[in-house]
Amino acid sequence: MTEVPVITIDGPSGSGKGTVSQQLAARLGWHYLDSGAIYRALAYAVELAGLELTEEKEKIVSLALELKLAFKPAADGGADVLLAGTDISSSIRTEECGAMASKLAADGDIRMALLQRQRDFRQPPGLVADGRDMGTVVFPDAAHKFFLTASAQIRAERRYKQLKEKGINDSIPRLFTVISERDARDAGRTNSPLIPAADAIVLDTSEMSLEQVIGHVRQKVGYQSL
Ligand code: DC
Repeated sequence: MTEVPVITIDGPSGSGKGTVSQQLAARLGWHYLDSGAIYRALAYAVELAGLELTEEKEKIVSLALELKLAFKPAADGGADVLLAGTDISSSIRTEECGAMASKLAADGDIRMALLQRQRDFRQPPGLVADGRDMGTVVFPDAAHKFFLTASAQIRAERRYKQLKEKGINDSIPRLFTVISERDARDAGRTNSPLIPAADAIVLDTSEMSLEQVIGHVRQKVGYQSL
């Protein structure tokens, strides 16, 4: 049996990987994995259960294994995230939830508990997977791997706009600080750190439009429908 094709798009927050991945998946008619949303949903569930990472790690691992998580196509082309049937899409988009997700994500046992759930997204006709370790750990055999970057200032500005569109008010300087902290944690951890796979194409999107990024990807992967 031939393996279902996968395109991995990794990178730090605000690099454009979410938008690019969603667009690619829509244009190809492929599935889309927002792995960050899984870590965010776990952070939300951990907070809801009042669990502490330092003292109750085993309970968090069990929670990760049992998480009743579902993704439902949303009107904006993205996906609504449902936890045990409740729509938590906007609650998990705050930077606070992102920071909690990043802290949980540094733990190897927690990552392991979420691994198969992510691999299960690999369904015909194909998958676009967005995250930090899609090309290095989750889908190391992916045919096409991309790593998007952008300057911290640009990423903070993009994040500000994204949050604003979702009705969340923040400030660019604050976002610059929290995003830089989160990226340093994600890149500095021992388990599946945020680094490009050896065979990934690295694109700096600071000065690029969405169409330009997609154009680069199209050129590299050669799928006609892009
Ligand atoms: O992509 P995002 O901002 O929604 O991700 C939130 C956090 O989840 C991120 O700071 C680190 C963690 N994460 C991870 O460790 N590995 C992934 N593949 C995706 C996200």
